Amino acid sequence: MRALGIGLIGTGFMGRAHALAFRNVSSAFELPVHLHLAALADADVERAQHCANAWGFARAHGDWQQLISDPAVDVVAITTPNHLHFPMAMAAIAAGKAVYCEKPLAVSLQQAEQMHLAARVAGVVTRVGYNYQHNPMLVLAKQMIERGDLGRIISFQGEFSEDFMADPALPWSWRCEPGHAGGALADLGSHLLAMARYLVGDVQAVCADSQTVHPQRPASRNSSELRDILIDDQTHALVRFSNGARGTLSSSWLKHGYKNHLSFEISGTGGTLKFDQERLNELHLCKAGQAGFERLLAGPELPGYAAFSPAGGHQLGYNELKTLEVHGLIQACAGNPAPGPDFEEAWQVERLAAAIREAAEQQRWITL
Ligand SMILES: NC(=O)c1ccc[n+]([C@@H]2O[C@H](COP(=O)([O-])OP(=O)(O)OC[C@H]3O[C@@H](n4cnc5c(N)ncnc54)[C@H](O)[C@@H]3O)[C@@H](O)[C@H]2O)c1
Repeated sequence: MRALGIGLIGTGFMGRAHALAFRNVSSAFELPVHLHLAALADADVERAQHCANAWGFARAHGDWQQLISDPAVDVVAITTPNHLHFPMAMAAIAAGKAVYCEKPLAVSLQQAEQMHLAARVAGVVTRVGYNYQHNPMLVLAKQMIERGDLGRIISFQGEFSEDFMADPALPWSWRCEPGHAGGALADLGSHLLAMARYLVGDVQAVCADSQTVHPQRPASRNSSELRDILIDDQTHALVRFSNGARGTLSSSWLKHGYKNHLSFEISGTGGTLKFDQERLNELHLCKAGQAGFERLLAGPELPGYAAFSPAGGHQLGYNELKTLEVHGLIQACAGNPAPGPDFEEAWQVERLAAAIREAAEQQRWITL
């Protein structure tokens, strides 16, 4: 069996999530290749070495360029802050390696387009971390939409809200910089845009409004120095899909009470379907004529669920979605058809985000 060498850059929130997924995927699935956890890189070389030992990676690098040129690495997984996605992905593509990059793809539409075109010319496999759409319940939702269970789709009302930036005393971080693709729309909203495209398809036009609710934040924890904040704390958009459906897309990182409220209601002429990532094993369906919503619960009749549990109601979690995402990546690297947004799809998400930003700035409808 061919070996596939994995190189992971970053050891933070997503670095750990990728490491868990790469370690779990061969327990959940029969893989067409043998996975080799070849190398781990972090700017903090001591942490890179510590995590490489703890997470089972063969080598540690303090310099990400060494990881990319490491001959044992076939796949480069990028889990660093957004502004580093472009140089790291472009170097990996130039070296002919597959790239698995966290979202959002880049910090500008121009970068995203260059990345997608470079990957296409090089013919390398790419995947982007829009993990939520690997949820077996959302694969089911897509199937229901495509086979017409909801009739003709007329509306998608989507929201991604969290509250992790709600405290105005929370200090500035790279997530507050427009040049680092910070803000509620780029950070959280990009997942929602990817979800809307996955379920309903291309967006034809948008109109939007964005607001910075807290225009200054402390420069660092307990500092009296204040930094100006130029990104959006909340964005609301009206959208027209190419298939004629209408919708709303909202994102906020100030909304108290919400921890991972990636949610939508899709209505068609024959029914309505509801989902909330905070209850990711459930869909709520009301078909025309029913008195109210019925709850559909994830179970082993869904292949993505069965990979982890033979029993219904035992529930998948966030890290299983990451494992399903990695499974798609590995199948694609082995030359098999596999789901998952690639750089081209992530560039389309960036086009939509750029149109929403432009619509909010100019306070008018923008056609894509
Ligand atoms: N898909 C998701 O659900 C999801 C969730 C959270 C974050 N993200 C994305 O993942 C990425 C990382 O976010 P995070 O929350 O893990 O951040 P984080 O701050 O927890 O981790 C970032 C890591 O990158 C490392 N790093 C920084 N500069 C580096 C360099 N020059 N070379 C090597 N390593 C370097 C840091 O040391 C750290 O280990 C971002 O793009 C973010 O948008 C995705």
